[in-house]
Amino acid sequence: MRRISKSLLAALFAAALPALAAAEEGRAIDLDIAPVSWELAPGLRTEAWAYGGSVPGTPIVARVGERLTIRATNRLKERTNIHWHGLVVPNAQDGPGVVIEPGETFTYSFAAPEAGTYWYHPHYRPVLDQLDRGLAAPFIVLSPEDGRYTGDLVLLLDDWYLDARGRRLEGAAPGAMERFGNLETVNGKTGAAIEPLRLVSGGLYKLRFISASTASVHTLRVSGHVFRITHLDGHPLAEPYESESLTLAPGERVDAELAAVGKPGSSFAIESDRPELGIRIPLIYGGAAQAPLRSPFVPARAGADPKLLARAPDHVLRVASAAEPAPSADMGMMAMPGMDMAGSGRWLINGAAYPDTKPLVVPVGVPVKLRIFNDDPADDAEHRMDHPMHVHGAVFQVLAVNGSPLPVPLSKDTVPVPAGGFVDVAIVMAEAGTWMFHCHVIDHEDGGMLTVIQAR
Ligand code: C2O
Ligand code: CU
Repeated sequence: MRRISKSLLAALFAAALPALAAAEEGRAIDLDIAPVSWELAPGLRTEAWAYGGSVPGTPIVARVGERLTIRATNRLKERTNIHWHGLVVPNAQDGPGVVIEPGETFTYSFAAPEAGTYWYHPHYRPVLDQLDRGLAAPFIVLSPEDGRYTGDLVLLLDDWYLDARGRRLEGAAPGAMERFGNLETVNGKTGAAIEPLRLVSGGLYKLRFISASTASVHTLRVSGHVFRITHLDGHPLAEPYESESLTLAPGERVDAELAAVGKPGSSFAIESDRPELGIRIPLIYGGAAQAPLRSPFVPARAGADPKLLARAPDHVLRVASAAEPAPSADMGMMAMPGMDMAGSGRWLINGAAYPDTKPLVVPVGVPVKLRIFNDDPADDAEHRMDHPMHVHGAVFQVLAVNGSPLPVPLSKDTVPVPAGGFVDVAIVMAEAGTWMFHCHVIDHEDGGMLTVIQAR
Protein backbone atom coordinates (compact mmCIF):
# COMPACT_ATOMS: atom_id res chain seq x y z
CA MET A 1 0.00 0.00 0.00
CA ARG A 2 1.27 3.47 -0.77
CA ARG A 3 0.05 6.97 -1.10
CA ILE A 4 0.11 8.64 -4.44
CA SER A 5 2.84 11.22 -4.11
CA LYS A 6 2.72 14.77 -5.39
CA SER A 7 5.15 13.91 -8.14
CA LEU A 8 3.00 11.01 -9.27
CA LEU A 9 0.07 13.36 -9.26
CA ALA A 10 1.97 15.80 -11.44
CA ALA A 11 2.96 12.94 -13.70
CA LEU A 12 -0.66 11.91 -14.02
CA PHE A 13 -1.73 15.33 -15.17
CA ALA A 14 1.25 15.35 -17.51
CA ALA A 15 0.05 12.40 -19.54
CA ALA A 16 1.30 9.35 -17.69
CA LEU A 17 -1.99 7.63 -16.91
CA PRO A 18 -1.13 4.10 -18.05
CA ALA A 19 2.26 4.14 -16.32
CA LEU A 20 0.67 5.26 -13.08
CA ALA A 21 -1.95 2.56 -13.27
CA ALA A 22 0.69 -0.11 -13.75
CA ALA A 23 2.67 1.19 -10.80
CA GLU A 24 -0.38 1.32 -8.56
CA GLU A 25 -2.15 -1.84 -9.57
CA GLY A 26 -3.83 -3.69 -6.74
CA ARG A 27 -3.03 -1.01 -4.23
CA ALA A 28 -4.91 0.14 -1.22
CA ILE A 29 -5.48 3.89 -1.21
CA ASP A 30 -5.36 6.17 1.80
CA LEU A 31 -7.30 9.38 1.36
CA ASP A 32 -7.10 12.17 3.87
CA ILE A 33 -9.97 14.62 3.71
CA ALA A 34 -8.56 17.83 5.13
CA PRO A 35 -8.21 21.59 4.74
CA VAL A 36 -5.37 22.81 2.56
CA SER A 37 -4.09 26.22 1.56
CA TRP A 38 -4.26 25.94 -2.22
CA GLU A 39 -2.46 28.14 -4.73
CA LEU A 40 -4.85 28.86 -7.61
CA ALA A 41 -2.27 31.11 -9.29
CA PRO A 42 0.98 32.71 -8.13
CA GLY A 43 0.02 35.09 -5.31
CA LEU A 44 -3.55 33.81 -5.11
CA ARG A 45 -4.27 31.25 -2.42
CA THR A 46 -7.54 30.01 -1.06
CA GLU A 47 -8.42 27.93 1.97
CA ALA A 48 -9.70 24.81 0.26
CA TRP A 49 -10.65 21.31 1.38
CA ALA A 50 -8.95 18.46 -0.39
CA TYR A 51 -8.70 14.71 -0.91
CA GLY A 52 -5.06 13.79 -0.36
CA GLY A 53 -3.77 17.34 -0.06
CA SER A 54 -4.31 18.54 -3.62
CA VAL A 55 -7.02 20.29 -5.64
CA PRO A 56 -8.39 18.41 -7.46
CA GLY A 57 -7.88 15.50 -5.10
CA THR A 58 -5.81 12.35 -5.53
CA PRO A 59 -6.78 10.80 -8.87
CA ILE A 60 -7.77 7.17 -8.56
CA VAL A 61 -6.74 5.14 -11.58
CA ALA A 62 -7.77 1.51 -11.88
CA ARG A 63 -8.18 -1.27 -14.36
CA VAL A 64 -11.55 -2.82 -15.05
CA GLY A 65 -12.28 -5.36 -12.33
CA GLU A 66 -9.42 -4.22 -10.13
CA ARG A 67 -10.33 -4.36 -6.44
CA LEU A 68 -9.77 -1.17 -4.54
CA THR A 69 -9.64 -0.56 -0.82
CA ILE A 70 -10.03 3.13 -0.16
CA ARG A 71 -9.49 4.25 3.41
CA ALA A 72 -11.00 7.71 3.76
CA THR A 73 -10.04 9.61 6.91
CA ASN A 74 -12.10 12.65 7.78
CA ARG A 75 -9.86 15.41 9.15
CA LEU A 76 -12.57 18.07 8.79
CA LYS A 77 -14.58 19.37 11.73
CA GLU A 78 -17.80 18.09 10.18
CA ARG A 79 -19.23 14.85 8.84
CA THR A 80 -18.61 13.79 5.30
CA ASN A 81 -18.66 10.76 2.98
CA ILE A 82 -17.68 9.94 -0.62
CA HIS A 83 -19.79 9.19 -3.68
CA TRP A 84 -18.17 7.50 -6.70
CA HIS A 85 -19.98 9.48 -9.35
CA GLY A 86 -20.88 7.37 -12.38
CA LEU A 87 -19.52 4.10 -11.04
CA VAL A 88 -22.15 1.48 -10.36
CA VAL A 89 -20.79 0.00 -7.15
CA PRO A 90 -22.55 -2.06 -4.45
CA ASN A 91 -25.20 -0.11 -2.60
CA ALA A 92 -23.30 -0.09 0.70
CA GLN A 93 -20.26 1.44 -1.08
CA ASP A 94 -22.12 4.10 -3.07
CA GLY A 95 -21.52 6.81 -0.51
CA PRO A 96 -24.60 8.70 0.64
CA GLY A 97 -25.52 5.98 3.14
CA VAL A 98 -22.15 6.30 4.88
CA VAL A 99 -21.33 8.87 7.55
CA ILE A 100 -17.66 9.52 8.33
CA GLU A 101 -17.47 11.38 11.63
CA PRO A 102 -14.67 13.89 12.20
CA GLY A 103 -11.47 12.02 13.06
CA GLU A 104 -12.81 8.70 11.79
CA THR A 105 -11.86 6.48 8.87
CA PHE A 106 -14.23 4.59 6.62
CA THR A 107 -12.95 1.89 4.31
CA TYR A 108 -14.67 1.68 0.96
CA SER A 109 -14.10 -1.50 -0.99
CA PHE A 110 -15.29 -2.38 -4.47
CA ALA A 111 -14.08 -3.53 -7.85
CA ALA A 112 -13.82 -0.95 -10.64
CA PRO A 113 -16.87 -1.95 -12.68
CA GLU A 114 -16.44 -0.43 -16.12
CA ALA A 115 -13.83 1.54 -18.07
CA GLY A 116 -14.41 5.26 -18.28
CA THR A 117 -13.95 8.74 -16.89
CA TYR A 118 -15.63 9.15 -13.52
CA TRP A 119 -15.03 11.27 -10.43
CA TYR A 120 -15.65 11.32 -6.73
CA HIS A 121 -16.98 13.92 -4.32
CA PRO A 122 -18.78 14.23 -0.98
CA HIS A 123 -22.46 13.38 -0.70
CA TYR A 124 -23.18 14.37 2.87
CA ARG A 125 -26.05 16.86 2.77
CA PRO A 126 -25.85 19.76 2.49
CA VAL A 127 -23.32 18.89 -0.20
CA LEU A 128 -22.70 22.35 -1.66
CA ASP A 129 -20.20 23.67 0.83
CA GLN A 130 -17.95 20.58 0.79
CA LEU A 131 -17.91 20.06 -2.97
CA ASP A 132 -17.51 23.77 -3.65
CA ARG A 133 -14.46 24.02 -1.37
CA GLY A 134 -12.54 21.66 -3.63
CA LEU A 135 -13.50 18.12 -2.60
CA ALA A 136 -13.58 16.55 -6.05
CA ALA A 137 -11.17 14.24 -7.86
CA PRO A 138 -10.90 12.14 -11.02
CA PHE A 139 -11.63 8.42 -10.93
CA ILE A 140 -10.32 6.82 -14.11
CA VAL A 141 -10.96 3.22 -15.09
CA LEU A 142 -8.66 2.38 -17.97
CA SER A 143 -9.58 0.39 -21.03
CA PRO A 144 -6.79 -1.38 -22.93
CA GLU A 145 -6.93 1.03 -25.88
CA ASP A 146 -6.38 4.08 -23.64
CA GLY A 147 -2.67 3.18 -23.44
CA ARG A 148 -2.27 3.58 -27.18
CA TYR A 149 -2.76 7.35 -27.24
CA THR A 150 0.25 9.66 -27.37
CA GLY A 151 -1.07 11.12 -24.13
CA ASP A 152 -4.04 10.57 -21.83
CA LEU A 153 -4.89 13.75 -19.95
CA VAL A 154 -7.41 14.63 -17.28
CA LEU A 155 -8.83 18.15 -17.15
CA LEU A 156 -11.06 18.74 -14.17
CA LEU A 157 -13.01 21.98 -14.47
CA ASP A 158 -14.27 23.88 -11.46
CA ASP A 159 -15.37 27.34 -10.38
CA TRP A 160 -14.84 29.35 -7.21
CA TYR A 161 -16.63 32.31 -5.69
CA LEU A 162 -13.88 34.34 -4.02
CA ASP A 163 -12.86 37.88 -3.24
CA ALA A 164 -9.77 39.42 -4.85
CA ARG A 165 -7.56 37.97 -2.08
CA GLY A 166 -8.83 34.44 -2.54
CA ARG A 167 -11.15 34.43 0.45
CA ARG A 168 -14.29 32.45 -0.01
CA LEU A 169 -17.44 34.52 -0.42
CA GLU A 170 -20.57 33.13 1.18
CA GLY A 171 -23.83 32.39 -0.56
CA ALA A 172 -24.56 33.25 -4.16
CA ALA A 173 -23.73 36.33 -6.21
CA PRO A 174 -26.33 39.12 -6.00
CA GLY A 175 -29.40 38.17 -7.99
CA ALA A 176 -28.31 34.54 -8.50
CA MET A 177 -30.29 31.56 -7.26
CA GLU A 178 -27.24 29.35 -7.54
CA ARG A 179 -23.64 29.63 -6.44
CA PHE A 180 -21.88 30.53 -9.69
CA GLY A 181 -18.16 31.18 -9.37
CA ASN A 182 -16.29 34.34 -10.35
CA LEU A 183 -13.08 32.40 -11.04
CA GLU A 184 -12.67 29.16 -12.97
CA THR A 185 -9.95 26.52 -12.83
CA VAL A 186 -8.51 23.59 -14.75
CA ASN A 187 -6.88 21.03 -12.45
CA GLY A 188 -6.94 23.55 -9.61
CA LYS A 189 -5.19 26.37 -11.49
CA THR A 190 -6.51 29.51 -13.13
CA GLY A 191 -5.32 31.83 -15.89
CA ALA A 192 -1.63 31.67 -16.77
CA ALA A 193 -1.09 29.08 -14.01
CA ILE A 194 -2.99 26.47 -16.03
CA GLU A 195 -0.61 23.77 -17.20
CA PRO A 196 -0.31 23.91 -21.03
CA LEU A 197 -0.91 20.76 -23.04
CA ARG A 198 2.44 20.00 -24.65
CA LEU A 199 1.78 18.28 -27.95
CA VAL A 200 3.87 16.40 -30.45
CA SER A 201 2.91 17.06 -34.06
CA GLY A 202 1.22 13.94 -35.43
CA GLY A 203 0.27 12.67 -31.97
CA LEU A 204 -3.24 11.69 -30.92
CA TYR A 205 -4.30 12.73 -27.43
CA LYS A 206 -7.14 11.58 -25.26
CA LEU A 207 -8.58 14.44 -23.20
CA ARG A 208 -10.87 13.62 -20.30
CA PHE A 209 -12.92 16.64 -19.24
CA ILE A 210 -14.73 16.47 -15.90
CA SER A 211 -17.01 19.18 -14.53
CA ALA A 212 -16.89 19.46 -10.76
CA SER A 213 -18.78 22.76 -10.87
CA THR A 214 -21.85 22.90 -8.69
CA ALA A 215 -23.89 25.17 -10.98
CA SER A 216 -21.78 26.67 -13.79
CA VAL A 217 -21.95 25.13 -17.25
CA HIS A 218 -18.62 25.07 -19.11
CA THR A 219 -18.33 25.51 -22.86
CA LEU A 220 -14.85 25.13 -24.31
CA ARG A 221 -13.69 25.81 -27.85
CA VAL A 222 -10.43 24.74 -29.45
CA SER A 223 -8.54 26.80 -32.04
CA GLY A 224 -6.91 25.24 -35.09
CA HIS A 225 -8.04 21.74 -34.08
CA VAL A 226 -11.17 19.72 -33.70
CA PHE A 227 -12.36 17.59 -30.82
CA ARG A 228 -13.53 14.11 -31.72
CA ILE A 229 -16.00 13.28 -28.97
CA THR A 230 -15.70 9.59 -28.13
CA HIS A 231 -17.29 9.21 -24.69
CA LEU A 232 -19.96 10.98 -22.67
CA ASP A 233 -20.02 10.37 -18.90
CA GLY A 234 -17.39 7.66 -19.44
CA HIS A 235 -19.43 5.63 -21.91
CA PRO A 236 -18.20 5.08 -25.46
CA LEU A 237 -20.44 6.44 -28.20
CA ALA A 238 -21.68 4.27 -31.02
CA GLU A 239 -21.08 7.20 -33.35
CA PRO A 240 -18.25 9.49 -32.27
CA TYR A 241 -18.51 12.99 -33.73
CA GLU A 242 -16.31 15.96 -34.42
CA SER A 243 -16.83 19.38 -32.91
CA GLU A 244 -14.83 22.53 -32.25
CA SER A 245 -16.53 22.97 -28.91
CA LEU A 246 -17.83 20.92 -26.04
CA THR A 247 -20.16 21.68 -23.17
CA LEU A 248 -20.31 20.18 -19.69
CA ALA A 249 -23.15 20.62 -17.23
CA PRO A 250 -22.37 20.04 -13.54
CA GLY A 251 -21.29 16.43 -13.01
CA GLU A 252 -20.84 15.59 -16.69
CA ARG A 253 -17.72 14.22 -18.38
CA VAL A 254 -16.64 14.37 -22.01
CA ASP A 255 -13.76 12.38 -23.49
CA ALA A 256 -12.41 13.79 -26.72
CA GLU A 257 -9.60 12.84 -29.04
CA LEU A 258 -7.40 15.68 -30.19
CA ALA A 259 -5.31 15.03 -33.28
CA ALA A 260 -2.17 17.15 -33.04
CA VAL A 261 -2.30 18.72 -36.48
CA GLY A 262 -0.20 21.79 -35.61
CA LYS A 263 3.32 22.33 -36.86
CA PRO A 264 6.27 21.98 -34.49
CA GLY A 265 6.71 25.29 -32.68
CA SER A 266 3.13 26.49 -33.17
CA SER A 267 0.65 27.20 -30.39
CA PHE A 268 -3.11 27.19 -29.98
CA ALA A 269 -5.58 27.15 -27.12
CA ILE A 270 -8.69 25.63 -25.67
CA GLU A 271 -10.73 28.55 -24.42
CA SER A 272 -13.83 28.98 -22.35
CA ASP A 273 -16.76 31.06 -23.54
CA ARG A 274 -16.16 33.07 -20.33
CA PRO A 275 -12.40 33.67 -20.78
CA GLU A 276 -12.49 36.49 -18.21
CA LEU A 277 -13.04 33.87 -15.48
CA GLY A 278 -9.69 32.28 -16.18
CA ILE A 279 -9.98 29.17 -18.32
CA ARG A 280 -7.57 29.13 -21.21
CA ILE A 281 -5.52 25.99 -21.83
CA PRO A 282 -2.55 26.62 -24.12
CA LEU A 283 -1.67 23.94 -26.69
CA ILE A 284 2.07 24.12 -27.25
CA TYR A 285 3.94 22.16 -29.88
CA GLY A 286 7.42 20.87 -29.22
CA GLY A 287 10.12 20.48 -31.85
CA ALA A 288 9.75 16.98 -33.25
CA ALA A 289 6.97 15.44 -35.28
CA GLN A 290 5.78 11.85 -35.42
CA ALA A 291 3.83 9.85 -37.96
CA PRO A 292 0.10 10.48 -37.41
CA LEU A 293 -1.43 7.97 -35.03
CA ARG A 294 -4.66 6.22 -35.88
CA SER A 295 -7.46 6.26 -33.36
CA PRO A 296 -7.61 3.18 -31.15
CA PHE A 297 -11.18 4.07 -30.13
CA VAL A 298 -13.65 1.19 -30.20
CA PRO A 299 -17.21 2.50 -30.66
CA ALA A 300 -20.05 1.06 -28.63
CA ARG A 301 -22.45 -1.23 -30.37
CA ALA A 302 -25.65 0.69 -30.97
CA GLY A 303 -28.73 -0.92 -29.62
CA ALA A 304 -31.76 0.24 -27.75
CA ASP A 305 -34.79 -1.91 -27.49
CA PRO A 306 -37.19 -0.20 -29.93
CA LYS A 307 -40.05 -1.36 -27.73
CA LEU A 308 -38.72 0.88 -24.95
CA LEU A 309 -39.07 3.92 -27.13
CA ALA A 310 -42.66 3.14 -28.03
CA ARG A 311 -43.71 2.18 -24.53
CA ALA A 312 -45.43 4.60 -22.15
CA PRO A 313 -43.22 5.80 -19.27
CA ASP A 314 -43.38 3.83 -16.04
CA HIS A 315 -42.80 7.00 -14.03
CA VAL A 316 -43.30 10.66 -14.90
CA LEU A 317 -41.29 13.23 -12.97
CA ARG A 318 -41.59 17.00 -13.07
CA VAL A 319 -38.67 19.04 -11.79
CA ALA A 320 -39.27 22.69 -10.92
CA SER A 321 -38.34 25.52 -8.64
CA ALA A 322 -40.85 26.36 -5.96
CA ALA A 323 -42.83 29.44 -6.90
CA GLU A 324 -43.21 30.32 -3.22
CA PRO A 325 -40.39 30.76 -0.74
CA ALA A 326 -40.10 27.92 1.73
CA PRO A 327 -42.35 28.25 4.79
CA SER A 328 -40.43 29.51 7.79
CA ALA A 329 -40.80 26.26 9.76
CA ASP A 330 -39.14 24.44 6.90
CA MET A 331 -36.39 27.01 6.70
CA GLY A 332 -35.68 26.51 10.37
CA MET A 333 -35.23 22.82 9.75
CA MET A 334 -33.01 23.40 6.74
CA ALA A 335 -30.78 25.99 8.38
CA MET A 336 -28.52 23.48 10.05
CA PRO A 337 -25.16 24.58 11.43
CA GLY A 338 -22.64 24.92 8.64
CA MET A 339 -25.28 24.92 5.98
CA ASP A 340 -24.51 27.23 3.14
CA MET A 341 -27.75 28.90 2.22
CA ALA A 342 -26.61 29.85 -1.28
CA GLY A 343 -29.68 30.16 -3.41
CA SER A 344 -31.79 29.22 -0.37
CA GLY A 345 -34.54 28.21 -2.74
CA ARG A 346 -36.68 25.12 -2.68
CA TRP A 347 -36.41 22.82 -5.61
CA LEU A 348 -39.04 20.24 -6.31
CA ILE A 349 -39.74 16.90 -7.90
CA ASN A 350 -43.45 16.36 -8.51
CA GLY A 351 -44.28 19.25 -6.24
CA ALA A 352 -42.29 18.10 -3.21
CA ALA A 353 -38.83 18.82 -1.85
CA TYR A 354 -36.72 16.02 -0.39
CA PRO A 355 -37.25 14.39 2.10
CA ASP A 356 -40.94 14.76 1.21
CA THR A 357 -40.47 13.53 -2.37
CA LYS A 358 -42.16 10.23 -3.16
CA PRO A 359 -39.67 7.38 -3.68
CA LEU A 360 -39.71 5.64 -7.05
CA VAL A 361 -40.28 1.96 -6.43
CA VAL A 362 -38.79 -0.05 -9.29
CA PRO A 363 -37.96 -3.69 -9.89
CA VAL A 364 -34.33 -4.82 -10.04
CA GLY A 365 -32.89 -6.00 -13.34
CA VAL A 366 -35.58 -4.88 -15.75
CA PRO A 367 -35.70 -1.68 -17.82
CA VAL A 368 -37.80 1.08 -16.31
CA LYS A 369 -38.75 4.07 -18.41
CA LEU A 370 -38.79 7.54 -16.89
CA ARG A 371 -40.06 10.72 -18.47
CA ILE A 372 -38.59 13.82 -16.82
CA PHE A 373 -40.28 17.17 -17.49
CA ASN A 374 -38.69 20.55 -16.85
CA ASP A 375 -41.61 22.66 -17.98
CA ASP A 376 -43.58 23.70 -14.92
CA PRO A 377 -45.60 26.73 -16.08
CA ALA A 378 -45.58 28.02 -12.50
CA ASP A 379 -41.82 28.06 -12.66
CA ASP A 380 -40.52 31.62 -12.64
CA ALA A 381 -39.23 32.09 -16.18
CA GLU A 382 -36.11 33.84 -14.88
CA HIS A 383 -35.18 30.84 -12.82
CA ARG A 384 -35.82 28.37 -15.56
CA MET A 385 -32.68 26.49 -16.47
CA ASP A 386 -31.57 23.05 -17.54
CA HIS A 387 -31.50 20.54 -14.71
CA PRO A 388 -28.72 17.94 -15.06
CA MET A 389 -30.41 14.94 -13.44
CA HIS A 390 -28.08 12.28 -12.02
CA VAL A 391 -28.79 8.72 -10.94
CA HIS A 392 -26.88 6.42 -8.61
CA GLY A 393 -26.72 2.64 -9.08
CA ALA A 394 -27.60 2.71 -12.78
CA VAL A 395 -26.81 4.37 -16.07
CA PHE A 396 -29.47 6.22 -18.03
CA GLN A 397 -30.13 5.15 -21.53
CA VAL A 398 -31.24 8.45 -23.02
CA LEU A 399 -33.95 7.54 -25.54
CA ALA A 400 -35.49 10.85 -26.58
CA VAL A 401 -35.28 14.58 -25.95
CA ASN A 402 -38.46 16.68 -26.26
CA GLY A 403 -40.15 13.66 -27.81
CA SER A 404 -37.59 13.28 -30.62
CA PRO A 405 -35.88 9.90 -30.44
CA LEU A 406 -32.09 10.11 -30.50
CA PRO A 407 -30.65 8.46 -33.61
CA VAL A 408 -28.60 6.30 -31.25
CA PRO A 409 -29.47 6.17 -27.54
CA LEU A 410 -26.80 7.61 -25.23
CA SER A 411 -25.51 6.08 -22.02
CA LYS A 412 -25.25 8.82 -19.41
CA ASP A 413 -25.32 9.10 -15.65
CA THR A 414 -26.11 12.82 -15.74
CA VAL A 415 -28.70 13.97 -18.25
CA PRO A 416 -29.45 17.66 -18.78
CA VAL A 417 -33.22 18.08 -18.94
CA PRO A 418 -33.67 21.16 -21.13
CA ALA A 419 -35.55 24.17 -19.80
CA GLY A 420 -39.08 23.98 -21.13
CA GLY A 421 -38.62 20.42 -22.34
CA PHE A 422 -38.49 16.77 -21.30
CA VAL A 423 -36.38 13.68 -21.74
CA ASP A 424 -37.18 9.98 -21.87
CA VAL A 425 -34.66 7.68 -20.26
CA ALA A 426 -34.50 4.02 -19.35
CA ILE A 427 -32.66 2.60 -16.35
CA VAL A 428 -31.96 -0.91 -15.17
CA MET A 429 -31.22 -1.02 -11.44
CA ALA A 430 -28.43 -3.51 -10.85
CA GLU A 431 -28.98 -4.10 -7.16
CA ALA A 432 -31.77 -3.83 -4.61
CA GLY A 433 -31.57 -0.89 -2.27
CA THR A 434 -32.18 2.81 -1.94
CA TRP A 435 -30.38 4.90 -4.57
CA MET A 436 -30.36 8.62 -5.11
CA PHE A 437 -31.73 10.48 -8.08
CA HIS A 438 -31.19 14.24 -8.08
CA CYS A 439 -30.25 17.41 -9.90
CA HIS A 440 -26.48 17.94 -10.01
CA VAL A 441 -26.85 21.69 -9.65
CA ILE A 442 -25.97 21.30 -6.00
CA ASP A 443 -28.02 24.29 -4.85
CA HIS A 444 -31.01 22.44 -6.29
CA GLU A 445 -30.01 19.07 -4.82
CA ASP A 446 -29.55 20.58 -1.35
CA GLY A 447 -32.77 22.54 -1.85
CA GLY A 448 -34.79 19.36 -2.36
CA MET A 449 -34.59 18.37 -6.03
CA LEU A 450 -33.75 14.84 -4.97
CA THR A 451 -35.68 11.66 -4.62
CA VAL A 452 -34.74 8.07 -4.03
CA ILE A 453 -35.19 5.03 -6.16
CA GLN A 454 -36.16 2.00 -4.13
CA ALA A 455 -35.03 -0.96 -6.19
CA ARG A 456 -36.61 -4.24 -5.10
CU1 C2O B 1 -22.24 13.42 -8.29
CU2 C2O B 1 -25.48 12.05 -6.19
O1 C2O B 1 -23.83 12.85 -7.17
CU1 CU C 1 -31.49 21.62 -11.08
